[in-house]
Amino acid sequence: MKQLKIAIIGAGVIGKRHLAAINSTNRAQLVGIADPFPASTSVAKGAGVAHFTDAQSMLDCVKPDGVIVATPTEHHLQPTLQSLDAGACVLVEKPVTATEDEATQVIEKSQQSGKPVLVGHQRRYYKQIVATRKLVQSGQLGQLVAVHGQWNVRKNDSYYESDWRKKWQAGPVLTNLIHEIDVLRYICGEIKSISAETTNSVNGFEKEDAAGLLMRFESGALGTFSLSDQTVSPWGWEFATGENAAFPRSGQNAIKFMGTKASLDFPNHVLWHTGDNSADWTSPLQSETTPFVFEDAYIAQIEHFCAVIDEEALPISDAQDAARSLRATLAVYDSAESGQRVML
Ligand SMILES: NC(=O)c1ccc[n+]([C@@H]2O[C@H](COP(=O)([O-])OP(=O)(O)OC[C@H]3O[C@@H](n4cnc5c(N)ncnc54)[C@H](O)[C@@H]3O)[C@@H](O)[C@H]2O)c1
Repeated sequence: MKQLKIAIIGAGVIGKRHLAAINSTNRAQLVGIADPFPASTSVAKGAGVAHFTDAQSMLDCVKPDGVIVATPTEHHLQPTLQSLDAGACVLVEKPVTATEDEATQVIEKSQQSGKPVLVGHQRRYYKQIVATRKLVQSGQLGQLVAVHGQWNVRKNDSYYESDWRKKWQAGPVLTNLIHEIDVLRYICGEIKSISAETTNSVNGFEKEDAAGLLMRFESGALGTFSLSDQTVSPWGWEFATGENAAFPRSGQNAIKFMGTKASLDFPNHVLWHTGDNSADWTSPLQSETTPFVFEDAYIAQIEHFCAVIDEEALPISDAQDAARSLRATLAVYDSAESGQRVML
């Protein structure tokens, strides 16, 4: 099989994770890295590929089939448009862009160029998430009435040394909550409205330290979510799953889905139900557990990206879909600022 030529723009934390994923598939080979930061030259050297300080020179030189855009969020737009113009398919990190207007530009350019854009919502590749979606949507919980989730971590102080990470675009709402919103949309269906509060009472940077949300889903279910990057706790997706080495695994669940027949603790599946007895509060509850099994979603994602480039599959999360997750996430800021519920 001919190997696809993949290039990376932005070789920081997540760019290197994509690099490792490319090395784990024989469908693709890395052909170049573009990043203006001097430390990235050693990343390219280590990978045995050419290094470029700007994206356009790399695109002109290596003519990749696919480009992974892993630059800071506020710099997603330009390299994504340049890559599509160069005739490449794009895997852009989440959030697709920092603003809805920029997301529209990406959608339009993808349509004009005929080249698909896959967005790096990597959680969608976990079997447990696909199984949760099936379980909720099949009605096994009865009618979904309520969802309650949290992502409470304390990021290390050095994380916020770079100036770009002190800005709102790098705050936990746009950087981390967007994963939760995307997963909730994927499992429970579209979100109809959001009310939220944010605070920056700990660090005092432009970016928020915590957010509290109330959501109404189109199905009528209600959701609440608590998020902070300044709290010590074992509750959050990465702690639960071990997806990211920077978060020591706690195995603790982080989201509860509650329905008229049963409830599910997640991402370890603990299904609570009353068996053959009536579903009301008089019956004793029993539970069945299916522990979360770690899989490398980045490898699954790069395999899927190759299938998209080869026109064997449509993106699991395309720019339009990711723009909906972006819209719901940005609504958190709008609601917090206006004090009003935001309709989506
Ligand atoms: N999917 C996930 O779970 C996940 C995890 C972490 C980060 N991310 C996303 O990945 C993106 C990058 O985050 P990070 O933590 O890797 O940041 P980072 O700061 O570690 O890396 C960004 C890299 O991009 C380079 N860069 C900046 N401007 C550039 C440009 N115009 N052209 C080329 N390179 C440029 C920087 O020099 C740096 O090396 C963000 O959008 C973030 O939201 C996603």
